[in-house]
Amino acid sequence: MKVNSLAFRLFATAAVWTLLVLPVAGLAIDYVRQRELASAHDTRISQLLTLVIAFSTDDGGSEPRFPRNVGEPLFEVTHSGWYWQITPLGNSPGRRMVSASLASEVLPLPSATNTRPDSNNIRWTEATGPLGEPLRVGETIFNFGDDEAPSNYSYVVAGNRDFIEGRLDEFRLPLVMALALAGLGLVGATFVQVRYGLQPLRSIEQGLADIRSGRERQLGGDLPAEIEPLRAELNALIQANHDTIERARTQVGNLAHALKTPLAVVINEAREERSPFGDKIAEQGDIMRDQINHYLDRARVAAQLGIIGTVTEVEGVLRGLVRAVSRIYRDRQLDMSVECAPGARFRGERQDLEEMLGNLLDNACKWAGSQVTVNAVLREADGLRPHRVVEITVADDGPGLNAEQRAQAVKRGRRLDESKPGSGLGLSIVADLVQSYGGTFHLEAAPAGGLSARLVLPAA
Ligand SMILES: Nc1ncnc2c1ncn2[C@@H]1O[C@H](COP(=O)(O)OP(=O)(O)OP(=O)(O)O)[C@@H](O)[C@H]1O
Ligand SMILES: [Mg+2]
Repeated sequence: MKVNSLAFRLFATAAVWTLLVLPVAGLAIDYVRQRELASAHDTRISQLLTLVIAFSTDDGGSEPRFPRNVGEPLFEVTHSGWYWQITPLGNSPGRRMVSASLASEVLPLPSATNTRPDSNNIRWTEATGPLGEPLRVGETIFNFGDDEAPSNYSYVVAGNRDFIEGRLDEFRLPLVMALALAGLGLVGATFVQVRYGLQPLRSIEQGLADIRSGRERQLGGDLPAEIEPLRAELNALIQANHDTIERARTQVGNLAHALKTPLAVVINEAREERSPFGDKIAEQGDIMRDQINHYLDRARVAAQLGIIGTVTEVEGVLRGLVRAVSRIYRDRQLDMSVECAPGARFRGERQDLEEMLGNLLDNACKWAGSQVTVNAVLREADGLRPHRVVEITVADDGPGLNAEQRAQAVKRGRRLDESKPGSGLGLSIVADLVQSYGGTFHLEAAPAGGLSARLVLPAA
């Protein structure tokens, strides 16, 4: 997944959101659970308080008696963390009584520190027990006497809070695991969702590639409602492009056609003239006629192929050209070998490919010692769009050119070796055509010693 992609944006926001929300949810759940446990603990303490009061007053006496069988065995175990304590307040008769568990310790009285009672008349505080354990302390003031001679007793029950912590710890591990699982599940689901949701964009990409490579003329397929208008617009654009180029082609064709007849007349007239001037006109007229025929041919071929999506099989062109040049240079007895990657297709017109390769092969045959090798491969170009390119290398074992000569050779009309016939235009034409296709063209030293010309062209 690329960083600058829709998929990454969707996925990253969902993932970050999940990572933020789940811990917050975890903390909230943990807080609620903690509150719940604390309130259950308080309830237990207040129940025990009620029992201690009940068992110490059930004889109807005027002061509390020692409560037996409160029903909590931990009150009997020394320093168990659960204690009760009855303290006479003010001048009330009787003595202080404590559970066996408290032994000689004393529990603090919340009423002594002016703690306010809750709706059940219980005052709460936190304290530390005999073993340093954290205690929750609940106190009720119980009145034995009448209004004239009130005798008040403080009833205190304390319970170990470690119990709450223990229960919380037990709860936290499964909580964290459940949330982590939920997080993983969500992130995984987002991944699938993004992939599935963006699928149609992939099919558009594929559709456009098919159009460029000539396999399709229009963007088809069943697209989701959101991008359906895009498809319609793209198709209209492609059609408009098509029409424009068609029109331009037709006009070039018409112009060339219109010039043909007057030119034929001019040439004929000039031939009749039989003077150096007439010869010159006739000679130049011939060149013009050839050019016109060339463009007429092109217009015709292009009309057949259509503009976007012109594709040329490399191998057929290569073999045809090699056959042709080996006939032209028959008496040079050259050994020509062609190697072409199967399925190599050039995204462009056949005529142009023939023109480029024809010039390179012609040069190679002119200057080769005994051998010419042609090699076409398909590869992925880095950072280029379209990614796939055809790389065609034409190499010979002739004298070659040094680096400076190689730079010069491509210039229009430049010839470095006048001993062979030629106009010095070949390589500049190749360079022009390659540029018009957005490809690259390089001359290098061939392994066999001669010159190696390398074309990189868009593949279909
Ligand atoms: N394979 C080669 N080996 C050695 N020198 C070369 C080779 N190809 C080109 N050159 C040099 O580069 C010059 C320019 O080549 P270019 O194809 O442009 O012109 P040309 O072949 O001389 O003429 P034209 O191709 O127009 O008939 C040539 O004159 C030649 O000196
Ligand atoms: Mg040449």
